[in-house]
Amino acid sequence: MKKTQLFFVALLSAFALVFTSCDKEEETKDTDPTLYERLGEQAAIEAVVDQFITNVAADTRINSFFATTDIPRLKRLLVEQICQATGGPCEYTGRDMKSSHAGLGITTDDFNALVEDLVAALDEFNVPAAEQTELLGILGPLAPDIIEE
Ligand code: HEM
Repeated sequence: MKKTQLFFVALLSAFALVFTSCDKEEETKDTDPTLYERLGEQAAIEAVVDQFITNVAADTRINSFFATTDIPRLKRLLVEQICQATGGPCEYTGRDMKSSHAGLGITTDDFNALVEDLVAALDEFNVPAAEQTELLGILGPLAPDIIEE
């Protein structure tokens, strides 16, 4: 190989290196941690849902709604739902929100009480404000399917 050819080969390799590292930067950007990951994945979501259900059970404003509910099933479905909605590797296998809550007569006050119980559970596990807001931003829009006034 001539000296000039060698020079061009070296130059091309340098360009290739630069472009590869640019790609890597892009990749990192594309793979920002999901809310599921930032919440602490499956185990952390299970712990929060456990605490949430404990809070709801102790909350005399709304606990009568759950008098005949299969709690272990509800817990499993809530974990699946939150996992899926936050970008985790789960599939929600429950009913849609409208049919799950149809006929229960849930009011806005009931909904807000339940959200308070969820926030208390998130606080208990020191979930940062940004992640709490993001999660509530996902669950809040479900309200019209749940509230019947
Ligand atoms: C964003 C808010 C809420 C979410 C994400 C949610 C989620 C769920 C899920 C996943 C189920 C199980 C669905 C199934 O059976 O297949 C369920 C059932 C139920 N939810 Fe909610 N829910 C919310 C708000 C509420 C509120 C505010 C109340 C009452 C205060 C409530 C009371 C119930 C009851 C009593 C059941 C059991 C119904 C039954 O056993 O047939 N939910 N909910």
